Amino acid sequence: MEYNLAPSILSADFTHLGEDILAVKRCGAKYLHFDVMDGLFVPSISFGMPVLKSIRPLTDMFYDVHLMIKSPERYVDDFADAGADGITVHAEACVHLDRVLDQIHDRGLKTGIALNPATSLSVLDYVCEKADMILLMTVNPGFGGQKLIPGTLAKISQLRAILDQKGLSIPIEVDGGVNDETIDLVIEAGAHVIVAGSAVFGGEIGQNYRKLTAHFPQSV
Ligand code: DX5
Ligand code: ZN
Repeated sequence: MEYNLAPSILSADFTHLGEDILAVKRCGAKYLHFDVMDGLFVPSISFGMPVLKSIRPLTDMFYDVHLMIKSPERYVDDFADAGADGITVHAEACVHLDRVLDQIHDRGLKTGIALNPATSLSVLDYVCEKADMILLMTVNPGFGGQKLIPGTLAKISQLRAILDQKGLSIPIEVDGGVNDETIDLVIEAGAHVIVAGSAVFGGEIGQNYRKLTAHFPQSV
């Protein structure tokens, strides 16, 4: 499984969002992480379909939409229409998680299941086969620039072991508090898709991006 950095535009400079996106694209980014927050499921409100629609024509990167919203089934079609390539929903926000994953697949998109730090992996027992990616939050969602919660590292390793045991090569994505100091920890734990916001968009983007991806194990 290849390693990918997924820059989160939550931390981009919105006075020149397009330039920031093209800057990570020039670095070779294949994923762009799009953090949608509703002020209900998480304390903040971020952005939604109009921003996604406006940036869709910019690149062919995988637009990795992370819905930190209650009852996300209400917006699957809207984000699919706006240009999402993958939609990740929080298990904690869905009454019928299995049905929402089918809804995302029915739109031809990739699915993701996200778990908050305190949520048990057992939530995945009867549904992980429908996930194209599993996102383990390494912070309590709602804000960029937080510190990674160390206890989430063991959870990443446990999930990797469970998926390997089931013969599922589903990549684990991690999100929150990943930077030059913590990226080795999440890679060693078993993450392959690494979300980073402030560590990428805070300062010189190209330099930040290359510094983080230099930690990726070279495929032999
Ligand atoms: C929810 C958001 C953030 C963001 C990453 O809180 O999902 O975790 O993407 O922010 P950084 O990389 O700045 O911690
Ligand atoms: Zn996110």
